[in-house]
Amino acid sequence: MNWYSREKRDLPWRASLNPYAVWLSEIILQQTRVVQGIPYYEKFIKTYPTVDALAAASEQDVLKLWEGLGYYSRARNLHKAAQQVAQEYDGVFPNSYLGLLKLKGVGPYTAAAIASICFQEKVPVVDGNVFRLISRLFGIQEDIGKGSTRKIFEKTIAPIMPSSSPGDFNQAMMEFGALVCTPRPHCPTCDLQFDCLSFKEKTQHLLPVKAKKIKIQDRTLNYWILTCQNKICLNKRIKGDIWEGLWDFYSTSMALFNAAPLDGKHKVQASYGPMNHKLTHQNITAWFTQIEISNETHLNEIAKKLNLTVFNVDELVTLPKPKLIVNYLAQVKF
Ligand code: ADE
Repeated sequence: MNWYSREKRDLPWRASLNPYAVWLSEIILQQTRVVQGIPYYEKFIKTYPTVDALAAASEQDVLKLWEGLGYYSRARNLHKAAQQVAQEYDGVFPNSYLGLLKLKGVGPYTAAAIASICFQEKVPVVDGNVFRLISRLFGIQEDIGKGSTRKIFEKTIAPIMPSSSPGDFNQAMMEFGALVCTPRPHCPTCDLQFDCLSFKEKTQHLLPVKAKKIKIQDRTLNYWILTCQNKICLNKRIKGDIWEGLWDFYSTSMALFNAAPLDGKHKVQASYGPMNHKLTHQNITAWFTQIEISNETHLNEIAKKLNLTVFNVDELVTLPKPKLIVNYLAQVKF
């Protein structure tokens, strides 16, 4: 706690104990580093200063503001939870750990963070930073990938958690994990050096234990950008897709466009690639081919057949898109 009061970063949401601001920041930080999250937090709080404002937005606008941050289900759930609070709770956040857990996209970690920071409830936050710090400090070798392991960590933390300022305690743990007890830890300057079991046993680099490595798949995407003058065909990603609600182009896994009749007069306007893009579970190699269709009627027919939507190219910038598509569009001109 002393370390935290000395070293804590001056983060925009720390100025407030407003559950809306804290909730927003914690959802953004779920799979995102603090430095990457700050500009998104600032955009959101400025555009939607209250939970009612966020609830009243369209999902497309929320996804657009989230563009580039990844894990888009967070944005869809954020929007749904805002509507839940606005409609079912009259715009007032639940004020307890158990109440917060009822909100869409709010799991044990986020509920504990909000309840402790905003409502002084004594519940420990166990996120990736805390797993790392506590596993090293106490030499816990349980697999953190297993669901049942969280309980072991919560039980370990309970006796060292103070009754006053539980929010500061939780944030101190997260901050310490983020700044000192990092994957490659800063042991020589660490205040907890002489209390740390793994420092004594020189096992810091072996902890925390995560048995199951995520399998990363290689995936090739061949994108076909069907245009006719200033018209362009786009594909809206469907339910269940990691990019649900976002717009990209018609794609095939093979480098062959065989899904709709072309009229023989079309021409390949430009090709681009390969473009590499890393997601948590996929390494994508993308190739882009722009095909100029000879007339608009034919473009509309193809769009209908392939379930695509025809837009004006200048509408592209307003639509929420995967980062891969944003990156591609930064390279080419229409
Ligand atoms: N990571 C997620 N939430 C955090 C917080 N409140 N403080 C520091 N790091 C965090």
